[in-house]
Amino acid sequence: MGYKLAVLVSGDGSNLQALIDRVHKPQLATISLVASDNPAAGALKRARQADIPALALPPEPGEGRLAYHRRLSHQISQYTIDLTVLAGYMRLLPREFLRRYQPMLNVHPSLLPAFPGLDAPAQAIEYGVKLSGCTIHLVDAGMDTGPVVLQQALALRRGETAAELHRRIKSLEHSLLVRAVTAFARGQVEMQGREIWIKGEESET
Ligand code: GRF
Repeated sequence: MGYKLAVLVSGDGSNLQALIDRVHKPQLATISLVASDNPAAGALKRARQADIPALALPPEPGEGRLAYHRRLSHQISQYTIDLTVLAGYMRLLPREFLRRYQPMLNVHPSLLPAFPGLDAPAQAIEYGVKLSGCTIHLVDAGMDTGPVVLQQALALRRGETAAELHRRIKSLEHSLLVRAVTAFARGQVEMQGREIWIKGEESET
């Protein structure tokens, strides 16, 4: 019963917190599991504080990407999951894992397809763009290449550091991720090829 989420995390978990506060509600969706490759991730603490099962699963020495994600998959498969969310999960996923856990959303701190990969806010500053922002997208086998669900832009400020820009982008991410996951949970997402629309939001974006 109800719409079930798995959230994969590696870091502080501010995006996870937004989901805990605004999506994890009986009438909307349940975060069934939060899993992290990093046992020290602040996100795990946030999950435990909300009484959500929190799994710390660090890779073993020498363990490859495929073997690690098979172990992770085994853990996730104990649950029935409708949507998987990468909320600051820092590892590339093997195709086998991607195929199994669809649909899957990722949060990225730039306006894709600009600045994929690591340190997107620093990349944006270095390039000298005037606008950046955040993207919620479906995950495919590429690096931040999946179809875009939602985006929001902000203007760069003269002299701001990558950390400052990232902080401002993150506050956009939180509300955008909540909107995207809510739309999935309510069955409001329409897809046609790479085009994704949220029913009722067409005029907004
Ligand atoms: C976010 O900026 C997200 O875009 C990127 O990783 C960061 C995670 O932050 N993929 P948090 O752990 O949710 O605070």
